[in-house]
Amino acid sequence: MSSIIEDLIARKVFNSRGEETVEVDVVTTSGFGRASAPAGKSRGKNEVTYYPSGGIDQALKKIEELVAPELVGLNANFQEEIDRTLHEADGSKDFKVIGGNSAFAISVANAEAAANSCGYLLFQYLGGAVAHELPYPLGNVISGGQHTLGKSPDIQEFLVISHGAESFTEAATANVEIHRRVGDDLRKKDRLFNNGRSDEGAWVANIGNSQALEILANACEEVSREEGFECQMGLDIAASSLWDSKQRRYIYGREKTKRDPGEQLDFVLDLIGKYHLAYVEDPFNEEDFESFRELTKKTKDCLVCGDDLFTTNCERLSRGIRAQAANAIIIKVNQIGTLTDALETVEMATRNGYVPVMSHRSGDTCDWHIAHLAVAFKCPLIKTGIVEGARIAKINELLRIEEFLGDRASMADLEL
Ligand code: PGA
Ligand code: ZN
Repeated sequence: MSSIIEDLIARKVFNSRGEETVEVDVVTTSGFGRASAPAGKSRGKNEVTYYPSGGIDQALKKIEELVAPELVGLNANFQEEIDRTLHEADGSKDFKVIGGNSAFAISVANAEAAANSCGYLLFQYLGGAVAHELPYPLGNVISGGQHTLGKSPDIQEFLVISHGAESFTEAATANVEIHRRVGDDLRKKDRLFNNGRSDEGAWVANIGNSQALEILANACEEVSREEGFECQMGLDIAASSLWDSKQRRYIYGREKTKRDPGEQLDFVLDLIGKYHLAYVEDPFNEEDFESFRELTKKTKDCLVCGDDLFTTNCERLSRGIRAQAANAIIIKVNQIGTLTDALETVEMATRNGYVPVMSHRSGDTCDWHIAHLAVAFKCPLIKTGIVEGARIAKINELLRIEEFLGDRASMADLEL
């Protein structure tokens, strides 16, 4: 059924950090869609600009003055045309006029309205009949780096992938169990631990990198044994935030250690070997394609993933492909602005053997659309935390999708 856009309503709401963000309603002749934008804290340099100068108030004004008049009257079913119109209304390369977060919310709300008007769920509408594979949840258990203060680890995220599970429900349950046990262990090992958790719901404790790895390794081992399937560890090193370009060293403040790129490579290789890591994100700063290439060449059975490196950007990814840097890519739609742009990046990744990993942001809302995008875009992994409201919103939606698909549901193809 055709779905002509009748109205576009934008407002300010809050994200999980209490920061203001933009939410958009798209009202069509036969459907309705609503989406709100997340926000990163350890952002890549090459992400689009979230808001025009003047902030959210200015963004709302631009939506009303520049975007709504162009979109009203268009057919919401033509997503590419909608997204192209957003680019044209903006006119800049990085959405600095209307704001990338406004583009994100409009693009996703439009797709939701179009799906709604056809009587489909978003993942069915975008992915068609072939969209029946559930991603494995990649969950953050312990936080560090820029997501914490004080004496927590220098590495930003200590993650788990329960990739031996046979269903999404099993995998999400194992992740929750690992998160719970790590909390129990921290209560014993860190005298100052006060049950603190980061924006992403991961534990914040007074421990170093190796202690965090040991504690997580124990929990993974126990849960793997009890559940009878493999739960492996991963890391997001977010190395751009450790990199000091003047000293040309990675600065590990808590450990009081500095590593040059060669030492960083050895350090990461050691961790992969010692802890049997299945996943390492941003092990080097965002301009160091060469070290990414070296690491990718030297590892097998471990995903080397670029987040700040690629920023969901096709041009950055194609540079990575030419350089043979990494074998996985984080997909954060608001890094690039629209669904069409993000899908183009996912398709390029998949064609070239890179694993696309759909992802939340550290500041997020209870918007659950990325759960549908992971299924529709065939992403074998979704990185969206384990507990905390904004994370659980996505996890719970995937539980519903799995239930909805019933016998047709299967887990994504993920070779590790
Ligand atoms: P961000 O970080 O959402 O704070 O940018 C998350 C990540 O680096 O994956
Ligand atoms: Zn990251």
